[in-house]
Amino acid sequence: MRLSVSAAVLLSAAAYYVYLPLPPGVCEPWKLMLLDALFRSFMSAGELLHGLGVLHRVHLLNRLVSLVEEVPPRSSPALLVTDSALSGVPARVFRPRGGRALKRGVLYFHGGGWALGSARMRSYDLLCRKMAEDLDAVILSVDYGLAPESVFPAQYVDALSASRSFLSSETWSRFGLDPDRLCISGDSAGANLAAAVTQTLCSDPSLRSCPRLQALVYPVLQALDFQTSSYQQNRAVPILYPPVMARFWLQYLDADPLLEPSMLQNQHSAALDPDTRAKINWTALLPAHVRKHYLPVGVAGGGDSGAGLAPVFLDVRAAPLLADEAVLSRTPRAYILTCEFDVLRDDGLMYARRLLDAGVTVTSDHYHDGFHGCMVFAHLPMMSSVGRRSLDGFIRWLDQNL
Ligand SMILES: *[C@@H]1O[C@H](CO)[C@@H](O)[C@H](O)[C@H]1NC(C)=O
Repeated sequence: MRLSVSAAVLLSAAAYYVYLPLPPGVCEPWKLMLLDALFRSFMSAGELLHGLGVLHRVHLLNRLVSLVEEVPPRSSPALLVTDSALSGVPARVFRPRGGRALKRGVLYFHGGGWALGSARMRSYDLLCRKMAEDLDAVILSVDYGLAPESVFPAQYVDALSASRSFLSSETWSRFGLDPDRLCISGDSAGANLAAAVTQTLCSDPSLRSCPRLQALVYPVLQALDFQTSSYQQNRAVPILYPPVMARFWLQYLDADPLLEPSMLQNQHSAALDPDTRAKINWTALLPAHVRKHYLPVGVAGGGDSGAGLAPVFLDVRAAPLLADEAVLSRTPRAYILTCEFDVLRDDGLMYARRLLDAGVTVTSDHYHDGFHGCMVFAHLPMMSSVGRRSLDGFIRWLDQNL
């Protein structure tokens, strides 16, 4: 009797910890709640040890993740998997053993807020294996430096060095790549790096090779408006809450952590010049059915960018959405995956709109029941159907366009 009472109490406590009211329409809400509870536990443990001065919160998270998640480069009958490097930047390389003589190639940047994650993580390892097998392509998954040791522009510089190497004849012959069939890709903060380096590579007249494709999975692209309609709509939706995204940005940009509250209210960007404002004006860039009833916050029009705002917030290498149309127009055919239940939805949709306006061919793949991270968590026990569908859609697009 006493046992079953304790069990009931424990079970209710667990349910209370896990339960979250989620908006209707999210794919398999209980799985998302479990994923969120897992993240929250990691985060709380991190905060606790950080507070006690034992470990930086990011180090704890990364240590936990590598303990649970890191896998060695295991080859299979179908794939040769090795830990290698591109211009000194570590990368895990997945090479199909049979198939075409000259392979298509994808350079992939993992997500994790420029601070977490790794190509050696089980989820990214599995993602790249699947891409390599399904596409008969060579996948190079890059381990760029992470915050807090690396801060902007270090991640971008690593990503750019790896990309330049990916687009060099030396790498083509080393891995048997077809130079006309290369794609730069990534998810979340990795998609930020993919977008930024693609702009740089395709603007650089000295480098004739710009990749054939860019594929961006729920990209993060700007740090000026934390009240876009998707930030407002999804402020309480796991797993990427607005303060978490703001902290990732502040850490990446090496800015004052005390900026967080004012940044979440857009006070940091209240005075922007009209030109910059227009590049992130979701009232103009997104259709009404996407914006719904949400209204802009703290964007009182004219001003002089720079008044109090650290210049790094306006650096296009950190915020690719702020690029000029001429730069966008030189970038290749694009795939942009967005999720309805994601604060970053509007970052991706605005970028899709701006690329289209610049004359780029864009496939905008929107998942009405998707949430941030769903494609990469497609392998966890709490794998969701939207995770599977988005992964299949991403691979299908690559197969048809690369
Ligand atoms: C954004 O675009 C809308 C529609 O074109 C316009 O009315 C509004 O003034 C713009 N907002 C800013 C802050 O520029």
